[in-house]
Amino acid sequence: MKKLILLGISVLMLASLVFTSCSSGGTTKIRIATDATWPPFEYVNDQTGEIEGFDIDVMNAIAERENLDIEFINVGWDALLAGMAQGTYDAAISSITITEERAQQMLFSNPYFEAGQIITVLKSNTTITGKDNLTGMVGAQLGTTGAMEVEKIAGATLKNYDDIGLAFQDLMNGQIVAVVCDNPVALGYVGKNPDKLKIVGTTFTDENYGIAVAKGKTDLLAKINAGLQAIIAEGLIEEFSMKWLEK
Ligand code: ARG
Repeated sequence: MKKLILLGISVLMLASLVFTSCSSGGTTKIRIATDATWPPFEYVNDQTGEIEGFDIDVMNAIAERENLDIEFINVGWDALLAGMAQGTYDAAISSITITEERAQQMLFSNPYFEAGQIITVLKSNTTITGKDNLTGMVGAQLGTTGAMEVEKIAGATLKNYDDIGLAFQDLMNGQIVAVVCDNPVALGYVGKNPDKLKIVGTTFTDENYGIAVAKGKTDLLAKINAGLQAIIAEGLIEEFSMKWLEK
């Protein structure tokens, strides 16, 4: 009997050891989803293989201020929104426009950046001058505010892409007539291909980016907002804009 009790105790001790070592191991990092196909906000540097960009700097700076142990998880845009609604990730930073619809499925930080939709066409295009005469096949990233806007334009037919880079490639190959996406992203592609691409018209939506937080994680949301407020006060948003965005 004594032996049995001793055995029982040692099994319990072992179990608790295993349990604590697991929970203090790498599993407690805060999981931040991002769709790293959206330069210059989040993309994979093809030299280093690392995720980088404006948003990555913003999130790292917030994490530093608030002592958050974070890891970035690179997921497709569709999976990111679905995962945030289901609580698969703790939070997401991915140039996410705060919309009423999304705010029913996830929490949002205070806004940290203003953007709007803009049209990119071939430099040689003389017929499309803005939203009002945008006709033909128009590319946008699936499930983004850009795609939603294209659907509202009578003459335009939406072609969905998982990766906006492929839409710009198709535009340059003459497969589609225009791309609609967030203005800083368009400016980035035009800046890299100034002999092929140009912007037409002005931004035609007013959008605010927010950091999404899984529903119920109000402590995390409060920390992210506090960190955000601190980095805004320090002028870091302007600094990162200078560093990453096309002038
Ligand atoms: N701002 C747009 C939206 O919220 C596009 C964001 C796409 N972000 C990305 N990382 N692919 O719909």
